[in-house]
Amino acid sequence: MHPIINIAVKAARRAGQIINRASNDIDTLKVSSKQPNDFVTEVDKAAEAAIIEVLSEAYPAYGILAEESGASPARDGSDGEYQWVIDPLDGTTNFIHGLPQYAVSIALMRGKTIEHAVIFDPNRNELFTASKGGGAFLNDRRIRVSRRTRLGEALIGTGFPYREFDKVDLYLSIFKELAQKTAGQRRPGAASLDLAYVACGRYDGFWEFGLAPWDMAAGALLISEAGGLISDLRGEANYLETGNVIAGTPKIFLPLLKLIEEKLPANLAG
Ligand code: IPD
Ligand code: CA
Ligand code: CA
Repeated sequence: MHPIINIAVKAARRAGQIINRASNDIDTLKVSSKQPNDFVTEVDKAAEAAIIEVLSEAYPAYGILAEESGASPARDGSDGEYQWVIDPLDGTTNFIHGLPQYAVSIALMRGKTIEHAVIFDPNRNELFTASKGGGAFLNDRRIRVSRRTRLGEALIGTGFPYREFDKVDLYLSIFKELAQKTAGQRRPGAASLDLAYVACGRYDGFWEFGLAPWDMAAGALLISEAGGLISDLRGEANYLETGNVIAGTPKIFLPLLKLIEEKLPANLAG
């Protein structure tokens, strides 16, 4: 295992311990709202602080982009060619409700390239890892996207709009068509795990609008290292910038992209 992955795994497991301990006592959780339907707990913050401590101690020359504390420069003042992208608790709404579907997501970017990825599900003790050019793994076993080729047999993951509703009609029209043309759609509520599930073949495709880079960076590398494809709504690679993402096995990705692209208004970027 690459030494950078070892450190990222250490950080993710430490966050997982904090999250697991707190999940035994969710009734006493202090929840605050960053904006409507966007929640944060002291657990998100404690998990994030623990992750940053482990990563910055081992790699003081790498900058940080983390959901709760934002962007911070490298601890040793380096220029930040490398940046960790961290979601300390992806699936906070599930966590607050005691619904066991959430994860820790950590990626290392070099410029615009995602080089390493770790996603840890503390409920199932599932650890997803990938390094660029080195394949994707679930608990140390190599994973690949599914072999399904027909959209009609595909199980598709998605995320419902819940905070921004500017694209809700577009979302629903795509959802409606996919409901009729696929084997089904699922919305478990943690985008990082949704992407990891494409990588390991549990889903055949995934799509969502309005995600943040920390929801997607680690999962995106897992998918490409597992033989899948990922893009924005126009088939371009700008999903970390636009927040809109489509992913799938090579054979499912293409019809999924086509179906979605045909519904996009001409003035909508990817
Ligand atoms: C959320 C989850 C969810 C997705 C949201 C994200 P958070 O992350 O990934 O599945 O639909 O857009 O914001 O806020 O729980 O870290
Ligand atoms: Ca998230
Ligand atoms: Ca989060």
